[in-house]
Amino acid sequence: MLQLLKKYIDEAKEAANLETLESVRLSAMGKSGAITQALKALGKLTPDERKTQGAEINKVKEAFLEAWSARKLALEEQELQKRLFENPVDVSLPPVMTRVGRIHPTSKVIDEVVQIFSQLGFTLEEGPHIETGYNNFTALNIPEHHPARQMHDTFYLPAQDANDETLLRTHTSSVQIRTMQKQKPPIKIIVPGKTFRSDSDQTHTPMFHQIEGLYVDKHVTFQDLKGCLSEFLKAFFELEELPMRFRPSFFPFTEPSAEADIGCKRTAEGVEIGMGLDWLEILGCGMVHPNVLENCGIDSTEYTAYAFGMGVERLAMLKYGTPDLRAFFEGGQRWSQQYGFNPY
Ligand code: PHE
Repeated sequence: MLQLLKKYIDEAKEAANLETLESVRLSAMGKSGAITQALKALGKLTPDERKTQGAEINKVKEAFLEAWSARKLALEEQELQKRLFENPVDVSLPPVMTRVGRIHPTSKVIDEVVQIFSQLGFTLEEGPHIETGYNNFTALNIPEHHPARQMHDTFYLPAQDANDETLLRTHTSSVQIRTMQKQKPPIKIIVPGKTFRSDSDQTHTPMFHQIEGLYVDKHVTFQDLKGCLSEFLKAFFELEELPMRFRPSFFPFTEPSAEADIGCKRTAEGVEIGMGLDWLEILGCGMVHPNVLENCGIDSTEYTAYAFGMGVERLAMLKYGTPDLRAFFEGGQRWSQQYGFNPY
């Protein structure tokens, strides 16, 4: 009988392909396979016979499994080689470019801005689009009667009761509040995201994107803010020299507040950023108001902070000359072919 079982070892070794090998395995080791059955039959023998025969059969079984798995590896390798030979891949060919979509200018600018600020030590933070009136306005020192809180400027969600004020965030500044509430200083974050205002014309869309920055620590100064923004703007517009000026402005959540302008030259074709006699408004910023820090449980006698916010589509239009704000959100194929970016 052993002789009979051993023939499966040779059959495994000689199997010409994976299918034959599998049928050899079934004949030997399947439920009703010869080796399986021989092992089962041991139960009917006397203890002495069982001992000697069992050892012999197990030896055959081990030898079979060894031969079988060695053959399996070899056959698999053979099939792989065969397939590679039949369908050669030219690894030096360029990738197929046209089948995938394009990177949207908004995404492109967010990636670039976040990358520059991460090199300046800022970490990425995000927040929800649906906000409380407290995080979007009250905690940011925006009083109850402020015009920004009015129905015609802000999208409110249906109120559950008289105290409920739920809305689509009107700026990414609400993430300043969320972060300061959950984290202790030092805090250094950059926050890209969607924002919503009830506004729609040639230069305003009801949804647009902003990027917020916040730096809270001991001894953060207005000078730090100016230095950081100047470095950022030069890196973003890829210019060695870029004039920048601060103009006094007002935001309830910063004091003092400023708007940053960059140098440009206006020509018949449009604006050219860099050296020139003209200025272009680019972002809003300031030192975080002590009330805002205190609203988040941060001691304003110990810590100071700066914050800034900018519109992503505006940056995209200026850097890449993308002309029409509304087209950003229409999803047109031809527009994205022309103004989108190659993902490679
Ligand atoms: N949140 C302001 C806006 O939407 C921008 C801003 C952010 C200004 C942070 C100052 C500091 O216009």
